[in-house]
Amino acid sequence: MTQSPPPGDAARGDGAGRSHKLWGGRFKAGPAAALTAVNRSIEVDFRLWPYDVWASQAWAGALASAGVLTADESSAIQAGLAQVAKRFESGALPVDSDEDVHTMIDRLLHDEIGDVASKLHTGRSRNDQVSTATRLWTIGSIDSIESELRALQSIILRHAESLTDAVMPAYTHLQRAQPVSAAHWMLSHFWPLERDCNRITMASIAASSLPLGSGAIAGSAYRVPRDELRENLGFIRLSENSIDAVGDRDFIADMLYAMSMIGVHLSRLAEDMILFGSSEFGFIRFGDTFTTGSSMMPQKRNPDAMEIARGFAARSLGGITSILATMKGLPSGYNKDLQDDKRILFDVVDSALLVLPAVTGALAECTFQVDVMERAVSSGMMATDLADYLVGKGVSFRDAHGAVGSLVRAAEEAGCELSELPPERFTSAHASFGADAREWLDARASIARRDVAGGTGPNAVRKQVEAAKSALAESTSSFQAESRP
Ligand code: ARG
Repeated sequence: MTQSPPPGDAARGDGAGRSHKLWGGRFKAGPAAALTAVNRSIEVDFRLWPYDVWASQAWAGALASAGVLTADESSAIQAGLAQVAKRFESGALPVDSDEDVHTMIDRLLHDEIGDVASKLHTGRSRNDQVSTATRLWTIGSIDSIESELRALQSIILRHAESLTDAVMPAYTHLQRAQPVSAAHWMLSHFWPLERDCNRITMASIAASSLPLGSGAIAGSAYRVPRDELRENLGFIRLSENSIDAVGDRDFIADMLYAMSMIGVHLSRLAEDMILFGSSEFGFIRFGDTFTTGSSMMPQKRNPDAMEIARGFAARSLGGITSILATMKGLPSGYNKDLQDDKRILFDVVDSALLVLPAVTGALAECTFQVDVMERAVSSGMMATDLADYLVGKGVSFRDAHGAVGSLVRAAEEAGCELSELPPERFTSAHASFGADAREWLDARASIARRDVAGGTGPNAVRKQVEAAKSALAESTSSFQAESRP
């Protein structure tokens, strides 16, 4: 077999302890230590190895189809890559010259099969390679995030089902507003997560565009069957433009946007839980296994998991900000700034995969003090209902609002509840108030009246629970390939 070694006298595969580089032939002197240190990305991109091995195997196949490799060479490379994967699985570690995971795989491949390994890099570049592997990683990570989101949604749904008869105050401006079914409140945290699942699915679709074949920027000089590659690697479509393909990190921005929305939603759920779990509210009790104590105050029971979730939102917002700032104003094609995309992406996804199970666990362990919740509903929260009562008697809403407002003020001045005002006070506020007006101050009746689709009424909530169940049942990620590593 004739060999065409990659540039650089140190480029030949020569085993672990020695230097192995994918470039270097055109330089008289080697890179400065400070450049090597700052340029090195293997600590971050090491985890891409299963995807880079897989894409490399597909590339070896494509090179054979293009007539660049013989069938034997292609099989030798593919089998060698399988051995490389085994070495990673059994704990192979980078050596000093492993600038990035692509270099390390190339070194191990030379180690396994010798010089024929040098043919693998024909017609490809780390520019199309890294984007391919990162896209595959992203698609895989979306599966994990989705299953964590689904687990959290299931707990929310389980609680909601147990809370359908519980009544609690709903707040606007964090002031008592109107009574709602506690299940309705609980499910208000289900739907944002449902939208998050849709958003990460969209990010996965965005990631599913194959850059391989783009080479460094102008496209591969060999007639590699890109569609076959696409099929083998489970991508939905091919990149349309090689210049765009090697510099396109939109999928990472899409993913990080979806992740920051997850962060935002988790922070709102967490904040409700923290607030409702405080002694001042007392609606929720956190369990023992997801609360921490204080080193000084023996009585403390801190909802750390929820607070960390609230904090994660900041990190996720940092992620989307960083990637957009990296992309902004970058010249077309690949630029080394982009190497940091993975650090940002991995950090946010890793954190989410720590945070989500903790939130799910903490929420699962919570108990709801339904009597405390119901006691927190004061009759003043049914002021709107009283106005609706007057509307039923033919009064305009504006006038009704004014009349009930005067009752609220009267109760406030008398230091009593709206329900404790004498009946004559009602009639003096508006002549249309009858003896039955007080029935409109009942919280459950107020809830029952709001049976509009999407409202807090019992039938509407029952339907909402069913809709949530079917959303969970329908959740699939069927567009994703089954054969990924
Ligand atoms: N480690 C690089 C990255 O993550 C791989 C691409 C390197 N490309 C290059 N032209 N030096 O972005």
